Amino acid sequence: MAIEQTLILIKPDGLFRRLTGLTIDRLDSTGLEMVGAKMVSVSEDLAREHYKSLSDKPFFPNLIRYIRGEFHGLKDSRILALVYRGEGAIAKVRLIAGATNPEQAAPGTIRGSFGRITTAQQFENVIHASSDPVDAKREVELWFKPQEILA
Ligand code: TYD
Repeated sequence: MAIEQTLILIKPDGLFRRLTGLTIDRLDSTGLEMVGAKMVSVSEDLAREHYKSLSDKPFFPNLIRYIRGEFHGLKDSRILALVYRGEGAIAKVRLIAGATNPEQAAPGTIRGSFGRITTAQQFENVIHASSDPVDAKREVELWFKPQEILA
């Protein structure tokens, strides 16, 4: 299996609900190595660039508001951005993240344990995790400068 890097974002609901430590504990349990970590204030441009492949979806406007912390009143729209590295990192993190829809995410996954769908039908699924090698490369480069990855 290839050595990969994958981007994880602990989203505003994860920070607001104080799920940061529990989420990192799950990520560390994969045996992968954390090689990048920082708080990021998510600008409208960064949010739109990150989710550009979803720009034609009906939930896109609320997705941008969600990732920018507008549903959780977080100062400076902050999220915690992480990079984990190791063999098969992308699939390993996706497996423990669980399905996109928190109601369909398996019990014991991060989204299955901590995610929810609000009464406004917004998925609040705690983390973003890169879905494939092309996305992972693009996303790690979007959120981190090369010198911020200590691999
Ligand atoms: P997507 O990239 O399809 O899923 P994933 O995060 O598992 O890679 O969607 C990005 C985010 O958009 C997802 O984490 C939550 C939100 N979303 C909705 O709010 N409603 C939806 O129906 C879908 C598919 C996604």
